[in-house]
Amino acid sequence: GTLFVLNGPNLNALGKREPGIYGAVTLADIETTCRQQADELGCVLEFRQTNHEGVLVDWLHEAGEKAEGVVINPGAYGHTSIALHDAIRAIGIPVVELHLSNIHAREAFRHRTMIAPVVKGVICGFGPAGYPLALQALVGIVNQQKN
Ligand code: DQA
Repeated sequence: GTLFVLNGPNLNALGKREPGIYGAVTLADIETTCRQQADELGCVLEFRQTNHEGVLVDWLHEAGEKAEGVVINPGAYGHTSIALHDAIRAIGIPVVELHLSNIHAREAFRHRTMIAPVVKGVICGFGPAGYPLALQALVGIVNQQKN
Protein backbone atom coordinates (compact mmCIF):
# COMPACT_ATOMS: atom_id res chain seq x y z
CA GLY A 1 0.00 0.00 0.00
CA THR A 2 0.84 3.67 -0.16
CA LEU A 3 1.68 5.88 2.81
CA PHE A 4 1.96 9.67 2.75
CA VAL A 5 4.43 11.62 4.87
CA LEU A 6 3.40 15.29 4.73
CA ASN A 7 5.47 18.16 6.05
CA GLY A 8 4.19 21.69 6.56
CA PRO A 9 5.64 25.18 6.70
CA ASN A 10 9.32 25.92 7.33
CA LEU A 11 10.33 22.26 7.40
CA ASN A 12 12.13 22.79 4.07
CA ALA A 13 14.60 24.85 6.14
CA LEU A 14 15.41 21.96 8.48
CA GLY A 15 19.15 21.77 9.14
CA LYS A 16 19.53 25.55 8.77
CA ARG A 17 16.59 26.65 10.90
CA GLU A 18 17.11 27.06 14.66
CA PRO A 19 19.52 24.11 14.85
CA GLY A 20 19.50 24.39 18.65
CA ILE A 21 15.88 23.28 18.60
CA TYR A 22 15.56 21.24 15.40
CA GLY A 23 19.10 19.86 14.91
CA ALA A 24 21.35 19.65 11.86
CA VAL A 25 19.52 16.91 9.99
CA THR A 26 17.84 18.07 6.77
CA LEU A 27 14.43 17.07 5.43
CA ALA A 28 16.24 15.29 2.58
CA ASP A 29 18.08 13.17 5.18
CA ILE A 30 14.77 12.34 6.85
CA GLU A 31 13.24 11.42 3.49
CA THR A 32 16.13 9.02 2.82
CA THR A 33 15.53 7.27 6.16
CA CYS A 34 11.78 7.05 5.52
CA ARG A 35 12.37 5.61 2.03
CA GLN A 36 14.64 2.87 3.39
CA GLN A 37 12.00 2.01 5.97
CA ALA A 38 9.19 2.00 3.39
CA ASP A 39 11.24 -0.29 1.12
CA GLU A 40 11.76 -2.72 4.00
CA LEU A 41 8.03 -2.65 4.75
CA GLY A 42 7.13 -3.06 1.08
CA CYS A 43 5.22 0.23 1.10
CA VAL A 44 5.08 2.99 -1.50
CA LEU A 45 6.01 6.31 0.07
CA GLU A 46 4.88 9.79 -0.93
CA PHE A 47 7.11 12.21 0.98
CA ARG A 48 6.21 15.87 0.51
CA GLN A 49 6.69 19.35 1.97
CA THR A 50 4.79 22.59 1.41
CA ASN A 51 4.62 25.99 3.06
CA HIS A 52 0.94 26.38 2.09
CA GLU A 53 -1.99 25.37 4.26
CA GLY A 54 -4.39 24.72 1.35
CA VAL A 55 -1.85 22.45 -0.34
CA LEU A 56 -1.75 20.33 2.83
CA VAL A 57 -5.56 20.13 2.65
CA ASP A 58 -5.35 19.03 -1.01
CA TRP A 59 -2.73 16.40 -0.18
CA LEU A 60 -4.80 15.02 2.70
CA HIS A 61 -7.74 14.63 0.30
CA GLU A 62 -5.44 12.96 -2.24
CA ALA A 63 -4.17 10.59 0.45
CA GLY A 64 -7.78 9.77 1.33
CA GLU A 65 -8.23 8.60 -2.27
CA LYS A 66 -5.09 6.57 -2.74
CA ALA A 67 -3.24 5.94 0.52
CA GLU A 68 -3.69 3.70 3.55
CA GLY A 69 -2.48 6.25 6.06
CA VAL A 70 -0.70 9.55 6.66
CA VAL A 71 2.06 10.84 8.90
CA ILE A 72 1.86 14.62 9.12
CA ASN A 73 4.20 17.16 10.65
CA PRO A 74 1.88 20.14 10.26
CA GLY A 75 4.46 22.65 11.54
CA ALA A 76 2.80 25.76 12.94
CA TYR A 77 -0.47 25.03 11.09
CA GLY A 78 -1.03 22.25 13.59
CA HIS A 79 -1.60 24.92 16.22
CA THR A 80 -3.93 27.06 14.11
CA SER A 81 -5.66 25.17 11.35
CA ILE A 82 -9.30 24.17 11.60
CA ALA A 83 -9.02 23.37 7.87
CA LEU A 84 -6.47 20.62 8.64
CA HIS A 85 -8.70 19.35 11.46
CA ASP A 86 -11.66 19.15 9.06
CA ALA A 87 -9.61 17.54 6.26
CA ILE A 88 -8.40 14.79 8.60
CA ARG A 89 -11.98 14.17 9.74
CA ALA A 90 -13.11 14.05 6.11
CA ILE A 91 -10.73 11.31 5.03
CA GLY A 92 -11.31 7.80 6.21
CA ILE A 93 -7.71 6.77 6.82
CA PRO A 94 -5.55 6.87 9.95
CA VAL A 95 -3.36 9.91 10.52
CA VAL A 96 -0.40 10.16 12.92
CA GLU A 97 0.69 13.64 14.03
CA LEU A 98 4.39 14.28 14.42
CA HIS A 99 6.54 17.09 15.78
CA LEU A 100 10.32 17.02 15.96
CA SER A 101 10.46 19.14 19.11
CA ASN A 102 8.63 18.54 22.38
CA ILE A 103 5.90 21.11 21.80
CA HIS A 104 4.79 20.78 25.46
CA ALA A 105 8.19 21.93 26.69
CA ARG A 106 8.07 25.08 24.55
CA GLU A 107 5.95 28.26 24.38
CA ALA A 108 2.35 27.96 25.59
CA PHE A 109 1.05 28.65 22.06
CA ARG A 110 2.58 25.34 20.93
CA HIS A 111 1.01 23.23 23.67
CA ARG A 112 -2.31 22.81 21.92
CA THR A 113 -2.80 21.43 18.43
CA MET A 114 -6.00 21.68 16.42
CA ILE A 115 -5.50 18.27 14.86
CA ALA A 116 -4.61 16.25 17.97
CA PRO A 117 -8.28 15.37 18.69
CA VAL A 118 -8.74 13.84 15.21
CA VAL A 119 -5.49 11.88 14.75
CA LYS A 120 -4.73 8.36 15.97
CA GLY A 121 -1.81 9.53 18.06
CA VAL A 122 0.92 12.11 18.42
CA ILE A 123 4.68 11.66 18.49
CA CYS A 124 6.76 14.65 19.58
CA GLY A 125 10.12 15.43 21.09
CA PHE A 126 12.29 12.72 19.51
CA GLY A 127 13.72 14.82 16.69
CA PRO A 128 14.20 13.12 13.29
CA ALA A 129 13.89 9.71 15.00
CA GLY A 130 10.18 10.50 15.36
CA TYR A 131 9.61 9.88 11.65
CA PRO A 132 10.43 6.15 11.68
CA LEU A 133 8.53 5.83 14.97
CA ALA A 134 5.47 7.48 13.42
CA LEU A 135 5.67 5.32 10.28
CA GLN A 136 5.99 2.19 12.39
CA ALA A 137 2.96 3.22 14.46
CA LEU A 138 0.99 3.97 11.30
CA VAL A 139 1.80 0.60 9.72
CA GLY A 140 0.72 -1.07 12.95
CA ILE A 141 -2.67 0.67 12.79
CA VAL A 142 -3.11 -0.08 9.08
CA ASN A 143 -2.30 -3.78 9.56
CA GLN A 144 -4.61 -4.02 12.57
CA GLN A 145 -7.47 -2.63 10.45
CA LYS A 146 -6.86 -5.35 7.86
CA ASN A 147 -7.17 -8.20 10.38
C1 DQA B 1 7.15 21.59 14.73
C2 DQA B 1 6.66 22.32 16.01
C3 DQA B 1 5.84 23.55 15.67
O1 DQA B 1 5.44 24.21 16.86
C4 DQA B 1 6.63 24.51 14.82
O2 DQA B 1 5.82 25.59 14.42
C5 DQA B 1 7.27 23.85 13.64
C6 DQA B 1 7.89 22.54 13.81
C7 DQA B 1 8.11 20.45 15.08
O3 DQA B 1 8.32 19.59 14.22
O4 DQA B 1 8.68 20.42 16.18
O5 DQA B 1 7.34 24.42 12.55
O6 DQA B 1 6.02 21.03 14.08
